[in-house]
Amino acid sequence: MPSDVPSPPSVSILPLEARAVSLEAGGKRLIKDLNFTLEAAKSTIVLGPNGAGKSLLLRLCHGLLKPSAGEIVWRGTRGRDPTPYQAMVFQRPVMLRRSVAANIDYALALRKVPRAQRRNLIEDALHRTGLEHFARHPARVLSIGEQQRLALARAWALTPEVLFLDEPTASLDPNATHVIEQVIAAFDAAGTKIIMTTHDLGQARRLADEIVFLHQGRALEISTADDFFAGPIDASAQAFLRGELLWRTPDP
Ligand SMILES: Nc1ncnc2c1ncn2[C@@H]1O[C@H](COP(=O)(O)OP(=O)(O)O)[C@@H](O)[C@H]1O
Ligand SMILES: [Mg+2]
Repeated sequence: MPSDVPSPPSVSILPLEARAVSLEAGGKRLIKDLNFTLEAAKSTIVLGPNGAGKSLLLRLCHGLLKPSAGEIVWRGTRGRDPTPYQAMVFQRPVMLRRSVAANIDYALALRKVPRAQRRNLIEDALHRTGLEHFARHPARVLSIGEQQRLALARAWALTPEVLFLDEPTASLDPNATHVIEQVIAAFDAAGTKIIMTTHDLGQARRLADEIVFLHQGRALEISTADDFFAGPIDASAQAFLRGELLWRTPDP
């Protein structure tokens, strides 16, 4: 296809490839030589202890951070800007001082979605996340679990091809966690590629097709969830799976 003809939106920006990606900050190597390819079909969970570099990895993939070396490549873009095909939900949602519906509307306006289309998208997103009755409530009075659902509703309205989630249930109780996991499963069922971090083994078992195990900035194991939970090869991953605390060791 000639490069000046826009690709149809049905062409995926995936797979996502990390090529020898490293990140340095404050004189430290925080992310070390990451190499992987993430395909459309599988939900990917980035698993690892606190401080492993999970959030940094997600920010690198989403384009919020630039690698110090190596590159992040969206192999399917065919010259398109990959940004509008992605959404990200953070550990602590940030809401505008507006109503729940207006928060979603704002996200759509930023993406230049015509006003006439926004109402249906907002209604569908509120419905998907069980927030219909909160539409006119100020977003900032919602509980943390409801705010996280609103963050997912904002993402849903954008119909992303790829959804990044950074420990979206880290501060939630089991009930609120269950609701969030159901919404994540709905994204997956709708064809959205999930790339999510967690330090919660149970959550990884429930949601992952594929595991990237991260420790001290390195991807020590990348495998199917079945293989990973049947018994990882890497010793740190084995210890993590046994529930042992992993300590940071000084870098050579
Ligand atoms: N801007 C920065 N400068 C220096 N160190 C940082 C910076 N951002 C993160 N770190 C460090 O990098 C490591 C990985 O951080 P992070 O990705 O947040 O871990 P995780 O999400 O796995 O808990 C941590 O030790 C953190 O303190
Ligand atoms: Mg983190």
